[in-house]
Parts: sequence; structure tokens; C-alpha cells
Amino acid sequence: MKEVFIYTRFERFWHWCQAALIIFLAFTGFEIHGSFKLFGFDKAVSFHRTAAYILLGLIAFSIFWHFTTGGWKHYIPTSRKLVAQLRYYLSGMFKGEDHPVKRTELSKLNPLQRLVYLGLKLIIIPVMVISGLLYMFYGTLGISGIIGDVELKSIATLHVLGAFVMLSFLVVHIYMTTTGRTPLSNIKAMLTSYEEIEEEDKGQISIK
Ligand code: HEM
Repeated sequence: MKEVFIYTRFERFWHWCQAALIIFLAFTGFEIHGSFKLFGFDKAVSFHRTAAYILLGLIAFSIFWHFTTGGWKHYIPTSRKLVAQLRYYLSGMFKGEDHPVKRTELSKLNPLQRLVYLGLKLIIIPVMVISGLLYMFYGTLGISGIIGDVELKSIATLHVLGAFVMLSFLVVHIYMTTTGRTPLSNIKAMLTSYEEIEEEDKGQISIK
């Protein structure tokens, strides 16, 4: 076994802050929606708005970081080993086969992760941010000049639908973290930067 460096300090900070904020937004959001009672409606609204502003700050910072460091390149989609990766998740990993793609600091994401995370960044998060901001400033700041006659109800429905997609992503994402070399090795890598991999090369390739 050897330890390889995978995640930078920024990536770990960004990942865990984003995770905590999204989970908190989901809790407060579904309380506003009426799914359960925890903080009380008024506090849930105020907490949700504060967490949303912090998330917006984090998003702006992470966009700046990804573009200045070239980190965005990790998300370039590729079809190389895509089918092999899919086959691995659907059957190979249950038979103890090796991961088809080797992870390195320069290539952290397998082809399936690239597609899913890109979709999250380009579709789901923008839907949540835009619908959330429209919700927040509905009837003010000349929003009606931008969205015309769209009812608040439709914006809320879009926001809640996005929230369900985010929750589904979260469940699948947490399950997928357990599919590394050991059930906790992926989480350990995101906490410590390092991942243990087998020294012996089993023909896996690293996707650039
Ligand atoms: C920057 C991102 C976000 C913004 C600006 C935002 C904004 C808002 C606003 C303004 C409301 C209405 C309550 C209020 O007046 O404050 C709301 C409700 C809600 N939010 Fe968010 N939100 C964001 C992210 C999220 C995320 C990530 C989730 C879930 C994962 C979420 C889930 C919900 C839910 C379920 C509701 C209740 C909607 C309803 O039933 O009317 N939000 N959000």
C-alpha cells in the first residue's frame, strides 16, 4: 500500500462547507415547506436566508478558485472508460473487481463522477440559486420585469423540485462514498487529503 495525495486544503474546505450548508438548507427549507417542525417557521426562514447568502459567497469563491487554479479541468467530461466505470458500479464492485480508473491528484474524478458533478454545477445548483433568489426578491427589485407574470407558486414548485433532486443526489453520493477500497477510504481522503492505494499496478488507467 502507498498513500497518495488527492485533495488540496481548498477542496476539502469547500467540500465540507458546501455539504454542511446544503444539508442545513434542506432542513430549514423542508421546515418552511411544512414537512416537519424544528426551529419554527420564522426562524427557519431567517436561517434559510442566512445560509443561502453564505452558500452564494462560497459559490463565488469556488468559481474564482476553480478558474484561477485550473481546477475546473477535473470536470471536463470524457467517454473514456465511462462504460467500464458504469459496469463497475453496477456489477464489478460486487464481485470484488478493481476500479477501472486510477485516482491521482491530477485526475481526481472518474468519468461518471465528472458527468454527475458537472450536471450538479451547471444545472441543479443554478436552478436552486436562481429560483431561490427569485423567491427571495419576488415583487421587489423589478423582478417582475424579468419574469413577467410567473406566479410565486411556480417558483416555489421549481425550488422544491430542485431540493428533491439535491436530496436524491445526497443519498446516492453518500452511498457512493462507501464504494472505495474500504467503506471509509473515500471519506478519509476528503478529510485528510490522502488515500491509500495498492502499489501494484493492475492495469488501471488515469484519465487526463
Ligand atoms: C442560494 C441558494 C438558495 C436560496 C437563495 C434559497 C432561497 C429560498 C427562499 C427565499 C425560500 C422561501 C422562504 C423565504 O422566504 O425565505 C426558500 C424555500 C425553500 N428552500 Fe431554498 N434557497 C436556496 C437553496 C436551497 C437548497 C440548497 C435547498 C435544499 C436542498 C432549499 C430548499 C428549500 C425548500 C424545500 C423551501 C420551501 C419551499 C416552499 O415550500 O415554498 N433551498 N428558499
